[in-house]
Amino acid sequence: MAGTKRRFAPGNGMAYAILHYEMPPVGGGKRKENMMKKCRAAVIGCGNISVMHLDSITHLEGMELAAVCDVKRERAEAAAEKYHTKAYTDYTELLEKEKPDAVHLCLPHYLHIPAAREALKRGVHVLSEKPMSIRYEDAAETVQLAKSCGLQYGVIFQCRYNTPSQLVKKRITDGRLGRVKCARSTLTWYRPEDYYAGSDWKGTWDKEGGGVIIDQAIHSLDLANWFIDSTPVSVQASLHNRGHRSMAVEDTGEGLVRYENGSTLFFYAMNNYLVDEPIEIRLVCENGTARLSYDEAVIRYEDGTVETVKNQPQRIVSYTGGKPYWGSQHAVQIDQFYRAVRGEEALEISAEEALKIQKIICEIYRNPVERTCAEQLSGERADGERTDGERGQGDAGCV
Ligand SMILES: NC(=O)c1ccc[n+]([C@@H]2O[C@H](COP(=O)([O-])OP(=O)(O)OC[C@H]3O[C@@H](n4cnc5c(N)ncnc54)[C@H](O)[C@@H]3O)[C@@H](O)[C@H]2O)c1
Repeated sequence: MAGTKRRFAPGNGMAYAILHYEMPPVGGGKRKENMMKKCRAAVIGCGNISVMHLDSITHLEGMELAAVCDVKRERAEAAAEKYHTKAYTDYTELLEKEKPDAVHLCLPHYLHIPAAREALKRGVHVLSEKPMSIRYEDAAETVQLAKSCGLQYGVIFQCRYNTPSQLVKKRITDGRLGRVKCARSTLTWYRPEDYYAGSDWKGTWDKEGGGVIIDQAIHSLDLANWFIDSTPVSVQASLHNRGHRSMAVEDTGEGLVRYENGSTLFFYAMNNYLVDEPIEIRLVCENGTARLSYDEAVIRYEDGTVETVKNQPQRIVSYTGGKPYWGSQHAVQIDQFYRAVRGEEALEISAEEALKIQKIICEIYRNPVERTCAEQLSGERADGERTDGERGQGDAGCV
């Protein structure tokens, strides 16, 4: 373990250890800078999240921003001016003319797959924002396409690089915590009506593919699923729209995922609260328990020791915008992606890896066992299935 250890005995005289964990250095150790091949990257979609990609590309070593693209010309031109690059409004034209090594997809959910395919067909590596798709089958086919082309295809799940997440994962895999027997994930956030009203794709089945589950809770569900690291065998969920009258999708979702190894994941997510409370994940493991949020992890072992870690934001890139709840780890994941592109190491969060949570998310939408506000949640979904209950109450989707 990288870091310092501090031991003390509290007042009750019981031997008690608090271990403070520090993140290993970004970049996985020494870099052969001279041998580093410069990668030309392009960003497609210049909306909210793009700043995390643009600042990372323009600050990381060995990178060059070849161009940006947005169908909204003013957004493309503003980004091009800020980052001193070329603007396009058609990504196929960008791909043809600029021939970048890689593209970053920061698009509405339903457009990630078509753009990924266009890039992969032209021999361009792809780093997609989450979710990679709104349909599991499309995502799986695109993973195969990337494999057949021998290209890197990554999906952003930056929360895996938060210090608390890294420590908990390490303690599960090194056996100190051991296997996760049961997990609980809670997200209670607030997204006002104008968050949806101000977007031409959020809050819709065909473009966003769902609501709080596919957009916000996907990060915490991915973390919990990553910690459990087993094959899901069934998904039960209920979806509700309790407060967002102007949107079609759910603002509340809860459910249970059962795994092949006997583990279970209980989840509750809503963006109908008054404020954004910290996301919390609790794990009951073979040798102790863990509680983690964005800010810290507290691990209590059965022998009475406690290990804590505070989040340590990365310091390689300072972003010129963004929301606090996005964290700071985009640059770390983007840096890792390009080390994989250069052939220095294996891609950590590949699209194949991301398929695991994609499958669970799609099952949640395929098989909700109960709904409220049926008039809002009913109707034809993007994958052609009805959302208004052709499956009986209590059905559990098998994955
Ligand atoms: N990792 C995270 O924490 C995080 C946070 C926020 C958003 N996201 C994800 O990032 C993606 C984008 O979200 P956002 O909030 O930036 O959305 P946004 O609506 O602000 O930006 C999307 C942009 O894509 C552009 N666009 C649409 N169609 C296009 C096309 N055919 N070609 C080029 N540009 C096109 C739009 O004009 C818009 O500017 C989503 O998948 C979202 O879930 C991830």
